[in-house]
Amino acid sequence: MKQQLQRLQEEFIASLATIDSEASLKQLESDYLGKKGKLKAILAGVKDLSIEDKKTVGVAANEMKKDFMIKLANKAWEIELAAFAQVESDEAIDVTIGYPSENLGHKHPISHTTELLEDIFISLGFKIEDGPQVEDELHNFDKLNIPHNHPARDVWDTFWISDDVNKNKDIWERLLLRTHTSPVQIRTMMSQELPIKIIVPGRVFRYEQEDARHTCNFYQLEGLVVGEGVTFGDLKWTLDTVMKQLLGEKTELRFRPSIFPFTEPSAEVDVSCQICNWSGEAKGKKCSMCSWTGWVELLGSGMVHPTVLEWCGIDSKKYSGFAFWMGIDRIAAQRFGVSSSRMFYQNKLKLNEQF
Ligand code: DAH
Repeated sequence: MKQQLQRLQEEFIASLATIDSEASLKQLESDYLGKKGKLKAILAGVKDLSIEDKKTVGVAANEMKKDFMIKLANKAWEIELAAFAQVESDEAIDVTIGYPSENLGHKHPISHTTELLEDIFISLGFKIEDGPQVEDELHNFDKLNIPHNHPARDVWDTFWISDDVNKNKDIWERLLLRTHTSPVQIRTMMSQELPIKIIVPGRVFRYEQEDARHTCNFYQLEGLVVGEGVTFGDLKWTLDTVMKQLLGEKTELRFRPSIFPFTEPSAEVDVSCQICNWSGEAKGKKCSMCSWTGWVELLGSGMVHPTVLEWCGIDSKKYSGFAFWMGIDRIAAQRFGVSSSRMFYQNKLKLNEQF
């Protein structure tokens, strides 16, 4: 009988290993431990054994029953865990998956214009540079030949970082919101090998009265080329090529003498107004974009001042350079026929969604 029990145990363990569902587990339990189960059937023969054998077989059978019950309970737990894992994987939500949307949004006209300008400049061999928006006085002014207390500083109405931050700093270390992208000229000349050929698109800030053409934060694109034999002719060709590519072959440029502390000679550059088609009139009215002159001032430029080159460690007898600036907002307004670039900052989806 002991051998029978031994075989039963082996058989039970082998069957248990194949079980993978609650229903078949229940069936196994009743096959072995039920009223008409295999264990009961074996124990039916106990009555014919000697008293001694009855005792040992009875104890062994009870132990086996307990062992079967523990094994069945463990298996039941295993099956439950597997079921949980299955539900978990079946019902998992993949948060990375995309969902179809009709309103995907689109680029802001200023980003669109910036990227277009970048593409044009890259095709001409320029590299794109970047610089901090919170700038120090040295790079924003002093190194650009705009010394402390010089009246030229008034041109760049400045947002200074609070006194708490600036009060313990030396004059040239004081922090401000950069008033132009020109400080990146300095940073690049001081850190890079010649020849230099870069553009710097970026956001700038001015403490300014807002009107159709002025906002207190706006976007500029700075350009700088420094090397041997760089001339004003190169500057004119570059700006003419870029503007024609951007606004069309018929675009005209007008260079007017001007003064910037960091360029000599300097020129402001007007572009034939795209809103009124160079006529000064739009839809029978005086064109407000160009103040009915037919020209809009979109660019500033000049030959890098020798003093600025020297302050950046560049031999001004051997090397020369040109620099320029473009108003990205104004260019975007010209491209898209918007009469006031201030509208780009008013979060008007009705306006932005048209482009
Ligand atoms: N940084 C000047 C401004 O914001 C504009 C400017 C003029 C930049 C002439 C230049 C330049 O690089 O050559 O008013």
